[in-house]
Amino acid sequence: MEELEQLANQFFKSGPGTFANQLPAKPAPTAPSAANLPQFSSVPDAGTVGGVAGHVPQQLSPPASASGGGVSPSAINQGNAVNLQNPQTGFAHPGLSGPEQPTAPIERGLPFAPDFNYTSYLQKPDLGSVATSNLDLGLKPSYNLPQHLIQLPYQQDQSFDVELRELLGGIKSSGVSRALPIDKTPLAIENPFYFLSPGYGLPQFKPQQQQSPNVGVSSFGNPPFDVNLVRNDFPILQERVNGKQLVWLDNAATTQKPRQVIDRISYFYEHENSNIHRAAHELAARATDAYEGARKKVQTFLNAASVNEIIFVRGATEAINLVAKSWGEQNLVAGDEIIVSHLEHHANIVPWQQLAGKRGLKIKVIPVDDDGQVLIDEYLKLLGPRTKLVSFTQVSNALGTVTPAAQIVQLAHLAGAKVLVDGAQSVSHMPVDVQALNADWFVFSGHKVFGPTGIGVLYGKEELLNQTQPWQGGGNMIKDVTFEHTQYHDAPSRFEAGTGNIADAVGLGAAIDYVTRLGMPAIAQYEHYLLVYATSLLKEVKGIRLIGTAHDKASVLSFVLEGFKTEEVGAALNKEGIAVRSGHHCAQPILRRFGIEATVRPSLAFYNTCAEIDLLVATLHKLKR
Ligand code: ALA
Repeated sequence: MEELEQLANQFFKSGPGTFANQLPAKPAPTAPSAANLPQFSSVPDAGTVGGVAGHVPQQLSPPASASGGGVSPSAINQGNAVNLQNPQTGFAHPGLSGPEQPTAPIERGLPFAPDFNYTSYLQKPDLGSVATSNLDLGLKPSYNLPQHLIQLPYQQDQSFDVELRELLGGIKSSGVSRALPIDKTPLAIENPFYFLSPGYGLPQFKPQQQQSPNVGVSSFGNPPFDVNLVRNDFPILQERVNGKQLVWLDNAATTQKPRQVIDRISYFYEHENSNIHRAAHELAARATDAYEGARKKVQTFLNAASVNEIIFVRGATEAINLVAKSWGEQNLVAGDEIIVSHLEHHANIVPWQQLAGKRGLKIKVIPVDDDGQVLIDEYLKLLGPRTKLVSFTQVSNALGTVTPAAQIVQLAHLAGAKVLVDGAQSVSHMPVDVQALNADWFVFSGHKVFGPTGIGVLYGKEELLNQTQPWQGGGNMIKDVTFEHTQYHDAPSRFEAGTGNIADAVGLGAAIDYVTRLGMPAIAQYEHYLLVYATSLLKEVKGIRLIGTAHDKASVLSFVLEGFKTEEVGAALNKEGIAVRSGHHCAQPILRRFGIEATVRPSLAFYNTCAEIDLLVATLHKLKR
């Protein structure tokens, strides 16, 4: 709270006049209700049978207002008023207060327990150092590769992921069950106790050494992930489509919003709405606190070094355009080169093309192999003295490929280039640490991480941001204006001209609270489990061709089905209430690399279940019949 106050004061001081001392005293934080917290299983111990917390009835009322004033968003999700705590983590488990729990696991779920090494996952970019003294890795002669970089993980095939590698390599995984016929596959929502219990081998997360304070061990330590309780937080998952329960498998396009986010936005408009940084009244203080509080949450979420490195924008697309139109226009000259990967979606191609057209730049493309993984040795060949920027995705939206991002960044820096990492498809699936990644910019969209549309983030290194010219001019980004001259603020205000999307930034803060409380490592682990399960079943569908078979994948299952147009498959799935995207996924170049124009693309989130995947696969089998 103190930090937030300081931040607010700082901003007020920098506005016209000094209001800091006139701010009304903040009301005491209101005790949160269990309904404001994500729901977790109550049994943190590995191997506990039936580790499912009961259905905790949701109380939909927004957080109660403290007497005489609003409530700070940071107070809303503090668990300290719930006195039942996980003895391991000290964190509250609201699920403990639910009704009686079932004592035995339900006869569903994955019947095997992959030996998932989470620590390897977290350290993946630096894994598997393959010593090679061969400097002829396609490096330009001008490169003098330092000795420590000779130890860079060079081989592509350093996957942490034995199960997926086996599946995609055509080796049948012995323990994976086949899809049940459709009439025997109840949906999770029709069976309130359908869950993946520890007894069914949801890989137990072993807390090990942490890479950084917010990457590594979930704040919950070792809770089994209870998908049912999580689903209760997402009202739209109860929606019926064509008379069927909605199955949302279009998460790469956008994610659904938990009640906590929806309520937080309503609360903002009911109790806090005001413009920010601009006035001495109570609501201006509340709104400024809420907005700057959200910025702080993003900082922690990404492990950015400073809150000033977090700029609110409309989404990943706007963030990339911002960099192109500010830093790019300021720094790039004819003949300079930009490298992107073949995996990029249009948002990470078109702005660079536009800039290249204006400035006479050259765009080079890192090719991918037949699995859809970038070819690092080809990348090395592209890097050269004219390379000024490398801009690439951490996870492909069309194929699901997880690129070796830290390695790509490191090599770009070695070449003296700046690097932008597009995290639009990664932040909702894996822990991200921008300091460990060391990219110069990192971008993501709020709506893909369970937050609202129309809000997103540009992270940039503070010094770089402050050296960069603004891209839009207007109120909020200025220190002083005369008709002759304008003095700009430093970041973040420097890049936030005009009145921004205040309420949705606050909503994004709530979404970050939500996923943080679930634990990004736990989310990554569970989704990976679903991905392995889905891959094992999908590959058995007659006439299916999986597009994107990289060993490192996250949450995307693109395919084409022999004899059917992608939109026909999409329509057939829709009849069963299943939403997937079919089309080019705003990433035409990568699909054309595989000789196709479109795929069917189920994409996963942590609220999806094995039963939903069973239904998807059974529907495809039925279609083929
Ligand atoms: N980029 C979004 C997608 O992958 C819209 O569907």
